[in-house]
Amino acid sequence: MREAVRRLWPEIGWISDAGLREKVTQTWIRALELSPLTAEDLSQIPFTLLVPDCPTTFMEHKRCVVHIARQAAESMKEFMGNALPVDLDTVIAGAILADVGKLLEYEKLNGQARQSKRGEMLRHPFTGVALAMQCGVPDAVCHIIATHAAEGDLVKRTTEAYIVHHADFMAFLPFKNLSK
Ligand SMILES: [Fe+2]
Repeated sequence: MREAVRRLWPEIGWISDAGLREKVTQTWIRALELSPLTAEDLSQIPFTLLVPDCPTTFMEHKRCVVHIARQAAESMKEFMGNALPVDLDTVIAGAILADVGKLLEYEKLNGQARQSKRGEMLRHPFTGVALAMQCGVPDAVCHIIATHAAEGDLVKRTTEAYIVHHADFMAFLPFKNLSK
């Protein structure tokens, strides 16, 4: 499983703190152990079920969000870092883990991804936090998992959580136009 996670997520290497790198890796390993999906499925299934016939895969979308979030965080640090501290490791780890709970939200039936019974009860922000807390992921990163989607609109987001939330939505909302 460790090798599968390494292949899925070269971006884990961007996290400078070795302990956090390991906790993020462990969370993905645990998710793959518990998931009805395989690592290979993640490069085939659509990243969202909310857009019919979505042409972009789970991994394409997730890696894109991590790249956007990192670059946004670096720009904010460069120009506004004195006034607004931004922790890059927290942003990168949070972006890599934001959708890890989808491994417990989705299942495959006849080759198609769909929401499982568990997923109907517990969307991925909830299962993602559960997985990450089991692996000792710090609260500031779990906060990003918890608040990255619409559920987080009810919560006061940290700077790092705002960055990941907007990176995620800018790479999601335009797809809604495709289904018009
Ligand atoms: Fe999500």
